[in-house]
Amino acid sequence: MGNFLEDGSRKDLTGFKMRAAVLILSQILGDFTSGVPIPAPEFPEKCTSEENCCMPYPYTGKPVRQFTIDPNLPLRIRRPVHKLNDDEIAKLEKGYQLLRSLSESDPRSLSNQAKLHCLYCDNGIYYPGMIWPLEIHNHWLFLPWHRMFLYFHERILAELLDDDSFALPYWNWDNQSEEEVANTLPDIYASNRSSSLWNHNRNKCAQQPNIVNLNTVGGCTEKTPTELRIENTRLMYTQIVSGAPTPRLFFGQAYSYGDGGGHGPGTFEDNPHGTVHLWVGDPDAPNKFDDMGNFGRAARDPIFYPHHANIDRIWTIWKTMPGKQRMEPNHTDFLDASFTYYDENADRVTVKVSQIINTTLLR
Ligand code: C2O
Repeated sequence: MGNFLEDGSRKDLTGFKMRAAVLILSQILGDFTSGVPIPAPEFPEKCTSEENCCMPYPYTGKPVRQFTIDPNLPLRIRRPVHKLNDDEIAKLEKGYQLLRSLSESDPRSLSNQAKLHCLYCDNGIYYPGMIWPLEIHNHWLFLPWHRMFLYFHERILAELLDDDSFALPYWNWDNQSEEEVANTLPDIYASNRSSSLWNHNRNKCAQQPNIVNLNTVGGCTEKTPTELRIENTRLMYTQIVSGAPTPRLFFGQAYSYGDGGGHGPGTFEDNPHGTVHLWVGDPDAPNKFDDMGNFGRAARDPIFYPHHANIDRIWTIWKTMPGKQRMEPNHTDFLDASFTYYDENADRVTVKVSQIINTTLLR
């Protein structure tokens, strides 16, 4: 269904009307308007996913647990993919091998993790009595939902590798340096077909030595590397620095229980986040822009995770920039929204946005 190109534009008329109402009200009230925070969804036996993204049911059968931070776990430091040493690379490859070898009925398998992402954005989850399905893109919960998703992805890999200090790497595509090449599809994900980090469905123009086009509409470009470096730098500046001095601009519009669609992304969500997805996706695949360019299948590609680790990193950096309003929305519909995931033991766990804001506390 949806691809990342349509992300900002797939609002129906109701979405527009609702958005207009929210904007008018918020101008009067001066802040995000109030609703009810998203409650953690259950994954019922009767799943309505249109894209076959239902999770195995029930799995461990244990009741859903509430997430708590385990202070005994080590603080995990994520490093740039292009600087990993041989041991770190070997460990990463091993982790994805193990993830791929889990059975189809295990909610932790790579394909089930991709399904979980899909379920949350392709009309897979309806709250009882609500008209609209839950959506995790195109509004202020985009960043926290994906940070939690990545957190459990990392914990699952750590469990499989039996190494609590395991950290995901990040793909440093915002780094336009000519000395250290960080803005191409990372070598370890792109060069070896038999690697567990490889994915078949990718854009042929997203291969080395081509550098990323943060303003792409998909496929190839005629631009020179120098032009791309300059444009990428400008785009990062307008989206993250000059264009996003407030929570609303950076995170996007409010989204509360019962809302339809998403009323608009923050500056970060479409470009560069969505454009990097599109750049990696194959424009010639039967489902145009598979895998990375389509919501339903993006998380099948292992590059999804270092891509989102970079999103997480830039969120943290954004807060350190000058300006008084570079902070998370201070609103209960944001802070109290909660979501359900599968933890490293394949049990269901619910997490509140307020629990994952501080990355130095997050173990
Ligand atoms: Cu749910 Cu990068 O997307």
